[in-house]
Amino acid sequence: MIAPFTLLGIESSCDDTAAAVVRMGEAPEVLANVVMGQEALHAAFGGVVPEIAARAHAEKLDFAVEAALAGAGVTLAEIDGIAVTAGPGLIGGVLSGVMLAKGLAAATGKPLIGVNHLAGHALTPQLTDGLAFPYLMLLVSGGHCQFLIVRSATEFTRLGGTIDDAPGEAFDKAARLLGLAQPGGPAVEKAAEAGDPARIDLPRPLLDRPDCDMSFSGLKTALLRARDRLVDAAGGLTEADVADLSASFQAAVTEILGVKARRAIALYLEEAPEAPAFAVAGGVAANRAIRAALEEEARAAGVAFAAPPLKLCTDNAAMIAYAGGLRLAAGLTDDLTLSARPRWPLDAGAAPMIGSGKKGAKA
Ligand code: KG4
Ligand code: ZN
Repeated sequence: MIAPFTLLGIESSCDDTAAAVVRMGEAPEVLANVVMGQEALHAAFGGVVPEIAARAHAEKLDFAVEAALAGAGVTLAEIDGIAVTAGPGLIGGVLSGVMLAKGLAAATGKPLIGVNHLAGHALTPQLTDGLAFPYLMLLVSGGHCQFLIVRSATEFTRLGGTIDDAPGEAFDKAARLLGLAQPGGPAVEKAAEAGDPARIDLPRPLLDRPDCDMSFSGLKTALLRARDRLVDAAGGLTEADVADLSASFQAAVTEILGVKARRAIALYLEEAPEAPAFAVAGGVAANRAIRAALEEEARAAGVAFAAPPLKLCTDNAAMIAYAGGLRLAAGLTDDLTLSARPRWPLDAGAAPMIGSGKKGAKA
């Protein structure tokens, strides 16, 4: 039985200024989860501008923390530890959070805990669904795509991931090519509803390779060519063309993720986990076709399936507070020398990935 203790979490690694309060215990509880987005600040630039993001975090972070404490009905004195994203991410934003957390820790004497942002995502299914270690996780967002075996609060094995674009990024680019709105994922999914997924022949890169790596950038180029062929032939795109292109694109991404998930599940099951479970998180997991395909792979393999609620699988500070709470419980705290890291692979043993850093995309 763990005595309940309470963590403040701070997240500022991309374009969400976030603070949260989580009570750790037998059944962890999110007491407050404040996320202040910056979409409007970056909209005109077609992507996150790191300098603008950092400045906005510096301006908003203390308000986010105040709102989280007020929402949870606790004072800073009642907090048992201060967890902060220390990387990977856009360095100016990460620094804003780390500096605030250090200031709060120094002023209150509370423990400071630096958290890997990706560990926050990877541990969320335990916070929301109580999954037991080790579980398999697919993190699939606008900036990341990787299969991880989550073994403990600090041990992660990366089975594979994208070698170029993340699927969310590919959806966003596809939407741009088709004249659909941003963010592209929901727009392409909507357009695909009326489309024929078999009309446009798009590639399924890397499916011939027996590993869990994926590639999505060639798909986008193939979509561009298919679109241009249709435009050349008819002078423009009809609504049906956009629907068919969207459906064909979505079907390709779905198949790639499904086939690679099957392989990742098989690798994970080789370890004979006691309570096998597969969790998906990230904005792309909101896609119904993709979610259904992943759920079907889990069902076929006899593995439990979990998909945390969207507001806890997109960027937030509750996941940072929870991951920080697990570290605190294990005696893993930091001191005021904690530094902000632009890159910080979860699995130090895995080969470095192309595109594993941040380019202004979310993770
Ligand atoms: O996890 P998220 O909110 O932000 C991070 O990347 O951290 O994911 C955003 C990404 C965007 O690229 C968006 O287009 C994609 O998730 N997305 C979707 C859907 N909803 C959001 N992709 C496909 N289908 C969707 N329904
Ligand atoms: Zn993230």
